[in-house]
Amino acid sequence: MTELAIALDFPDSATADRLICDLGELPVIYKVGLELFLGAGPEWVKAHCTRGKRIFLDLKFYDIPNTVAAAVAQAASLGVEFTTVHLSGGRKMLDALKVAPKVLGVSVLTSFSEEDWYENSLRISERPHGIPQAVQNLAGLAAQHSAVFGMVCSAHEVKWIKGAYPNLYTVVPGIRPVGVPSQDQARVMTPKEAALAGASAIVVGRPITQSQDPKKIVEQILNDIG
Ligand code: C5P
Repeated sequence: MTELAIALDFPDSATADRLICDLGELPVIYKVGLELFLGAGPEWVKAHCTRGKRIFLDLKFYDIPNTVAAAVAQAASLGVEFTTVHLSGGRKMLDALKVAPKVLGVSVLTSFSEEDWYENSLRISERPHGIPQAVQNLAGLAAQHSAVFGMVCSAHEVKWIKGAYPNLYTVVPGIRPVGVPSQDQARVMTPKEAALAGASAIVVGRPITQSQDPKKIVEQILNDIG
């Protein structure tokens, strides 16, 4: 079964609360990213966790091991179910994690096209890997590490990641229902295609949050992936 995480990419808690209230008891996970976390604050996150909402705190930590471990422990103390770290932070950063919610490793952002990735990688290495090789290396690290529950990857990589590492929970952003523009996402798929490819959860933001009738879109997506 594939789950739906809704990216609450809003500037303030009032807008996010309207959507959460509108969706009632629909079985979804709420993803809180940098924008809402900075606008609404940790107490808002904690209150929703206490109310039983499933919260995925997506702050994509990337820092020295001690700093990331402390940040992940703070996320755990809020009661969130999932949080994210960049896998490119490396093994020592993952080794340092102690008190942790379900940690998801970010591989290559789905906004990177192969061309953007190559250009960016050239700045740090003379022999850059393509996206598939980079994701493969990072998936191997995620799968070997007991502190890592799953990873974030594009729908184009999820099939082989599931094949190679069936125990990794795979979270797939860059999802666009049929007829919706891809905006800044480069490697996109529809909800149904991603579910068929084996995504454990899909992340959908703007197609829901910018819609006139978010509840209807959420129900359609749940129907497509159920
Ligand atoms: O609006 P949209 O559906 O493009 O939102 C996708 C969400 O998933 C955003 O909150 C973005 O930060 C997040 N995300 C992503 N690519 C990743 C990891 C997270 O787009 N690799």
